[in-house]
Amino acid sequence: MKGVVLAGGTGSRLFPLTKITNKHLLPIYDKPMIYYPIQTLVDAGIREILVVTGGRNSGDFLRLLANGREFGLKHLDYTYQEGEGGIADALALAEHFADGQKICVVLGDNIIQGNVREAVEEFKQQPTGAKILLKEVPDAERFGVAEIRDGRIASIEEKPKHPKSNYAVIGIYMYDETVFEKVRVLVPSGRGELEITDVNNAYIREGSMSYGHLDGWWTDAGTFESLLRAANLVAETRTKNSEAVLVKP
Ligand code: G1P
Repeated sequence: MKGVVLAGGTGSRLFPLTKITNKHLLPIYDKPMIYYPIQTLVDAGIREILVVTGGRNSGDFLRLLANGREFGLKHLDYTYQEGEGGIADALALAEHFADGQKICVVLGDNIIQGNVREAVEEFKQQPTGAKILLKEVPDAERFGVAEIRDGRIASIEEKPKHPKSNYAVIGIYMYDETVFEKVRVLVPSGRGELEITDVNNAYIREGSMSYGHLDGWWTDAGTFESLLRAANLVAETRTKNSEAVLVKP
């Protein structure tokens, strides 16, 4: 399976931090944000990775990440999103890279404590369709929210005022090669973007969407509050891990 990190967008909710740089280059504790989703893919055993960037600072990604040596990779692919068409618009740029294979897509501002290796392995065995991961949260209205009926996802609503459950759809998605056909027929949402939730609902209507639950903490980092929370979670986890190493006999 191949991996795609979506790291475009204007980061308007983080203005003025994003006035002169891309959101995904901002620090989360001791690393630039983009390091975390790349590491998520690498930890899942994915070695072929495409970074989709955009805006005026896209060249900085190349200088920062180069060929991915820090992640144990030999090579990274890059592509450029023109305009601000949303997550699904950025995903469309991965079609050439995917070349008919399944892909695991990670939003550039999604950071997780654990790893998704098991879910990725399960999806490799799934003949067709898509797989998403859910996490119970106290503020579901900030996310895509899954309605679950009889153990299946009935629908996903994007940032609903009155969420039907507490299950947020996290920004890690696994798709078969039909994802690009589904993106092609999307229409822009109220916020003028092609929504990843509409892609997921297309798989749900088709009856080919599976899901899993993510262990460990998860956060996005696209607002001031979540950016701070992400840094604190990473710092706490890092401290705990190094203490655990120190007390090992
Ligand atoms: C996006 C998706 C949303 C998902 C979230 C995860 O929201 O549209 O469904 O739950 O990422 O971080 P956005 O960050 O574009 O507001």
